[in-house]
Amino acid sequence: MIKALFIGDVCGKPGRRAVRDLLPAIKKEEGIDVVITNIENLAHGRGATVETVNELMYYGVDFMTAGNHIWRRPDFHELLGGDFPIIRSLNYPDDLPGKGYGEIDLGEKGKLLVISVIGYAFMNERTITEPFRSLDAFLKGIDSSKYAGILVEIHAESTSEKLSFALYFDGKVSGIVGTHTHIPTADERLLPQGSSYINDIGMVGPLNSSLWVKKEIVFQQSMYPYSPRYEIEEEGPVRFDAVVIEIDGPTSSKSIKRINKIL
Ligand SMILES: [Fe+2]
Ligand SMILES: [Fe+2]
Repeated sequence: MIKALFIGDVCGKPGRRAVRDLLPAIKKEEGIDVVITNIENLAHGRGATVETVNELMYYGVDFMTAGNHIWRRPDFHELLGGDFPIIRSLNYPDDLPGKGYGEIDLGEKGKLLVISVIGYAFMNERTITEPFRSLDAFLKGIDSSKYAGILVEIHAESTSEKLSFALYFDGKVSGIVGTHTHIPTADERLLPQGSSYINDIGMVGPLNSSLWVKKEIVFQQSMYPYSPRYEIEEEGPVRFDAVVIEIDGPTSSKSIKRINKIL
């Protein structure tokens, strides 16, 4: 059995501070074997830098997924193409740096395979290929039985696309978890064939912001044809959203539970 903590999109300094403050106690209380998080908003909301990734790993994060905003800073070359435990989404073109999957070696507990896939609907990602076939083809090319667990991140905007994607891969992987919207959903469950699922984990970032952006900037953007540059909300409460998944095999989970905290 592998107990994985999957944390939603960590946003800027408020998000990194919340991980620093909460992660050690959660790891201890829950008996976590491995910590995974999405880092597309890690550096001031836009992409990630080598420095902010090193900071997050220092706080206890083991493995990271990149999302659609990782391309916003040139550090993606080093973060995805180097030795960092970070994956991009699988259905981007092969000539981009990095891979859409990665193995985490958990010693006696075996190997956990993590795969990230980006959704189609409302994502405006012109270079991606259709997510269902992309993951299907990938899974056909591997021997799933050699893994103690297989976790899939579906990084997508549409709740219906994410749920149908999860139902399609139910029983083919241990779990399917959504990221990207920054809004946690309350639909976590085991699907009929035994895979764990949640539509969106949520985020670790400023509670009274839009995604992570100062609300006043978003008001202006909504009301005027011109708007200032996005800035992160550095003040006020921060939300921390994650799920704990008990993985009991490469095609099933024993449980999934939400952790939603406000600091
Ligand atoms: Fe995000
Ligand atoms: Fe995203």
